[in-house]
Amino acid sequence: MSPMSPMRPFGIGLIGCGNISKQYLKNLSAFPDVAVLICADVDAGRAKAQAAAYGVPEWGSAGDALGHPGVQLIVNLTVPAAHAEVTGAAIAAGKHVWSEKPLTLDVAAGRALLSEAGAAGVRVGCAPDTVLGAGLQSARRLIGSGAIGTPITALTLLQGPGPQSWHPDPEFLFAPGAGPLFDLGPYYLSMLATLFGPALRVAAIGRRPRESRVIGSGPRAGTPFSVAVPTYVAALAEYAGGQAASLLFSWDSPLSRAGFVEITGTEATLAVPDPNRFDGDLRIRRAGDADWTVIPAEGAAAGRGIGVVDMVRAIRAGARHRASGELALHVLEMMTAIERSAVSAAFESVQTRFEVPAPLDAQWDPYAAAN
Ligand SMILES: NC(=O)c1ccc[n+]([C@@H]2O[C@H](COP(=O)([O-])OP(=O)(O)OC[C@H]3O[C@@H](n4cnc5c(N)ncnc54)[C@H](O)[C@@H]3O)[C@@H](O)[C@H]2O)c1
Repeated sequence: MSPMSPMRPFGIGLIGCGNISKQYLKNLSAFPDVAVLICADVDAGRAKAQAAAYGVPEWGSAGDALGHPGVQLIVNLTVPAAHAEVTGAAIAAGKHVWSEKPLTLDVAAGRALLSEAGAAGVRVGCAPDTVLGAGLQSARRLIGSGAIGTPITALTLLQGPGPQSWHPDPEFLFAPGAGPLFDLGPYYLSMLATLFGPALRVAAIGRRPRESRVIGSGPRAGTPFSVAVPTYVAALAEYAGGQAASLLFSWDSPLSRAGFVEITGTEATLAVPDPNRFDGDLRIRRAGDADWTVIPAEGAAAGRGIGVVDMVRAIRAGARHRASGELALHVLEMMTAIERSAVSAAFESVQTRFEVPAPLDAQWDPYAAAN
């Protein structure tokens, strides 16, 4: 096999070996199209431990990953405040990048990254790749077949007490770039963007009832920390295609209710699985039905990392990758506009556009080598 052969797994360097790196490393180790060559972190102990746990041959600093000659794509799993810096450094090193969400903290930084990537001839992809999961892909096929008529509205609900109870280092989740809107909004907004296309304008109310919270688990349990962002956000979105959505993102609710998404069309309402998951049954209720009809999801449910596989296959085929930087930039602009509207008490417009990704075949399989 020549070094350029498409059969050789695409070399991955993973930067950021914290909480979510376990899911990525487990999955990326099992997908034959990719091979993780190095784990990197500012905390060398974490990089070393994750490399050992998942059989990754090397570990080191971000600079070591960027300078690794076999690495073609960087998977950026750092905290949101570091996304722009790490993704920018990877682009400058001539590497493709898959970033965890949000793409960056602000639209200008995201736009700059995409233009730098275009100039350097490298790709940017961004989480969430749940939009490639069996749940949403089945919903797309069902809606495309006319099962709910013309889609007109969406209702989404995300409520709970917040992640300070389970995340051992939750401070970043209450800092700029997070809160329920920026941390979980990408799942809901990317799902709706994939179904409806780009949004035109948004409006919102935001609240921050508690100025500090207390870490609930891990070695630092009992430590208070401050809350910098709204923890209750109720938003409205209007889409270029004419659809409207009502969205609730709250970490101020003793009641936990996540993953509620209903798409209502002229003929029926479709309950879509949790957009923070890759699978789950769909339920449809047509006008006059006394109850829901369950429709099992079909397609890939492998979990985090399938967006990296889609991206690698697209790079090799010269095709568009689906979880694109442009889609992520639009979602980021929606979130920043929602945040602004919560302050201005006025509708805020959304300017960026993206191409709606092509649907995946139900047979698409990240565990099978593409070639
Ligand atoms: N935890 C989850 O369940 C979850 C789920 C989906 C997505 N995410 C996203 O994944 C990202 C990481 O989340 P997490 O929960 O794993 O956070 P974490 O704090 O557990 O881990 C982040 C890691 O990045 C490292 N890091 C920070 N800045 C760095 C830099 N400049 N260079 C190298 N390493 C750096 C930290 O040392 C840490 O080990 C976030 O964008 C988050 O939104 C997390």
